[in-house]
Amino acid sequence: MIQFSNVTKDYENQTALRDISFVIEKGEMAFITGPSGSGKTTLLKLIYSAEKPDRGNISVAGWDLDQLKASSIPYLRRNIGVVFQDFRLLGNRNVFDNVAMALRIRGMGEREIRTKVFETLKSVNLRHKSDSYPKGLSGGEQQRVVIARAMVADPTVLLADEPTGNLDPDTAESVMRTFKDINARGTTMLIATHNRELYRNTGRKVIRLEGGTLVGVGPG
Ligand SMILES: Nc1ncnc2c1ncn2[C@@H]1O[C@H](COP(=O)(O)OP(=O)(O)O)[C@@H](O)[C@H]1O
Ligand SMILES: [Mg+2]
Repeated sequence: MIQFSNVTKDYENQTALRDISFVIEKGEMAFITGPSGSGKTTLLKLIYSAEKPDRGNISVAGWDLDQLKASSIPYLRRNIGVVFQDFRLLGNRNVFDNVAMALRIRGMGEREIRTKVFETLKSVNLRHKSDSYPKGLSGGEQQRVVIARAMVADPTVLLADEPTGNLDPDTAESVMRTFKDINARGTTMLIATHNRELYRNTGRKVIRLEGGTLVGVGPG
């Protein structure tokens, strides 16, 4: 589902990723870990084509990103849900509208949008908060709205960048349970985190980065 072959990414004055190769299979839930500055966010950006590699090949959901024209990037991104480090919910829109946004930009009809949004909010246990505004929600609830927004359009791949970074341990655990449920329904997941509690003893694939180099791939 995601394949990196000898990928190198340089920014102006430094190498962010060096000769990285790995594979994530369809339906897998995998993690990227490493200290701050090790290249986790850059790796995710390469997957949704927000950055281009300087060397090597990347394929995502059957797309060879090398061959991808700029005009096709929106089509790639329809297959990828992204949960960013900072929440980026619209403060002047309620929960329903924040999630519905992802479907409205795709031109879906309002009736179908209502069904889909309520179904998705239910799956993250926020059906009862659909009329609330972000500032009336806890950090964990806000993060679950962000997750709902990322998954409402049924992406093939869900990427998350430090999804529990600002959350207390109990809330982080509930977010991880949500991710497991999403994965159990078939979505391929890649989660960047420096919190080893998220993957310890899970047996899931962990890609370890240090200073832009892959130092190991193995079960957590
Ligand atoms: N847009 C950018 N321009 C220049 N350097 C960058 C940019 N983004 C990240 N970097 C550098 O690339 C390295 C990897 O960063 P990043 O991928 O954000 O790591 P992580 O997410 O693991 O903290 C860091 O040294 C960072 O300073
Ligand atoms: Mg980062």
